[in-house]
Amino acid sequence: MAPRNTTVNISLMGLGTVGGGVAAALMGNADAIKRKTGRTVRLKQALVRDVSRPRDPSLPAGLLTTNPEDILSDPDVDIVVEMMGGDSPAGSYLERAIAAGKHVVTANKEVMSRRGPSLLALAQEKRVNLLFEASAGGGIPIVGCLMSQLLANDIRSIRSIINGTTNYILTRMARQQTPFADALAEAQARGYAESDPTNDIEGIDAAYKLSVLGSLAFHRPIPHDSIYTEGISRLAPEDFRYAAELGYAIKSLAIAVAEDDGAVRARVHPALVPEDHLLAKVDGVYNAVEVTGDLCGQIILHGQGAGREATTSAVMGDVLNIVRGLANSEGPPPLPDTPSVASNGGPLAPVHPIDELSSAYYMRLTCADQAGVLAQIAQILGDGNISIATVIQKDTDPGSGTAQLVITTYPSREADVQTALRAVGELSVVVSVNNLIRIEE
Ligand code: NAP
Ligand code: HSE
Repeated sequence: MAPRNTTVNISLMGLGTVGGGVAAALMGNADAIKRKTGRTVRLKQALVRDVSRPRDPSLPAGLLTTNPEDILSDPDVDIVVEMMGGDSPAGSYLERAIAAGKHVVTANKEVMSRRGPSLLALAQEKRVNLLFEASAGGGIPIVGCLMSQLLANDIRSIRSIINGTTNYILTRMARQQTPFADALAEAQARGYAESDPTNDIEGIDAAYKLSVLGSLAFHRPIPHDSIYTEGISRLAPEDFRYAAELGYAIKSLAIAVAEDDGAVRARVHPALVPEDHLLAKVDGVYNAVEVTGDLCGQIILHGQGAGREATTSAVMGDVLNIVRGLANSEGPPPLPDTPSVASNGGPLAPVHPIDELSSAYYMRLTCADQAGVLAQIAQILGDGNISIATVIQKDTDPGSGTAQLVITTYPSREADVQTALRAVGELSVVVSVNNLIRIEE
């Protein structure tokens, strides 16, 4: 490890959207970094797949490598910054870097969700830092907040918009009626989307992030695959129109709530949000995280959730904290306040299944436009103990003899709603059940 007053060597794994921003900051802001941390930093090497690809910024000759050993086996590397993405091979590279006594910064929510507890335990054993601010919320400093500034709180809930790509697509669909595929292509071109955008649009990326944030908030690991996850691909332009008429925006929310019985309720899905709620006003690539704690009450952090500059801010904040620690102490830098459970690996938080959720619902059906249809549907919902709040009939099509029926309910049990909707779908007068969206009041 670099002794005091010597240059801190930093190697990057990944030089794409985020890695490019971090490389530019390391090379272009050297004086400011020295002023803020007291140490000189040097970009030693960057791992990529293809050295012939044009880069922004372009790196001096010899800095690019395709061989991870050039970084992992180099005793002069003090800090490894991982911005490759995916669990493999990034997870094992991080493990090796930590085992070799290197400090590590990662933007990788998948690795932190899947392997966070064991990597943090290893980092503690090796007395090195493992920091991961950019793994959730992009430029919003929510990870550090949960790990330190909000640590005194008993956190009751997190309600959030934590996928920039999805929020960008939903905003374009709602405001400009942009088709889904076009809005996704725009988000990819802006560098917001994951290399496989399925992770964004199916809610998987948000589930990884909720797993990271929930584990920090509730001090128990919440496995990403225990989180109910539903994507945005079923949303149609008419859902945005009808929701707006009812006074709601449609957002993809990631919610984790600590229940009184000690279990957690964690879910990622599209939701109708009252248009005067702050979360309804979070547009484009912006994210927001609402945290409710016993002492702090309700806090909302809002900022850019993806993109090169915002993410560089989060990664570089972690890097500079480590560099500052190296400059200020004779021994190893102070470890972050990792929640005890994240570092000892258990016990897992029990997570309630979605079936037991109580929520209000929006349902959209295509039905025959004839007398008695509503009565048949109302009968099934009533039998299922589901109380109707509003009904509107829209977009009557004389050609096909059908109309769209939009029904909202009072809070009901999810399992009852799903059962009733299956029965509604079997009615001869119902052409299709088009959508079921939870309403978050
Ligand atoms: P990206 O643009 O696809 O860049 C990935 C980089 O990693 C590329 O330079 C690629 O090399 C390199 N790479 C990937 N697999 C590799 C392998 N097996 N061996 C060597 N190099 C490899 O991705 P990104 O958008 O920067 O995202 C990076 C990480 O940051 C991900 O974990 C992502 O979830 C996270 N993140 C991204 C954002 C965002 O807004 N983009 C925000 C927050 C967090 P080549 O260039 O040669 O292909
Ligand atoms: N693909 C992610 C998003 C990047 O769109 O939010 C930020 O983690």
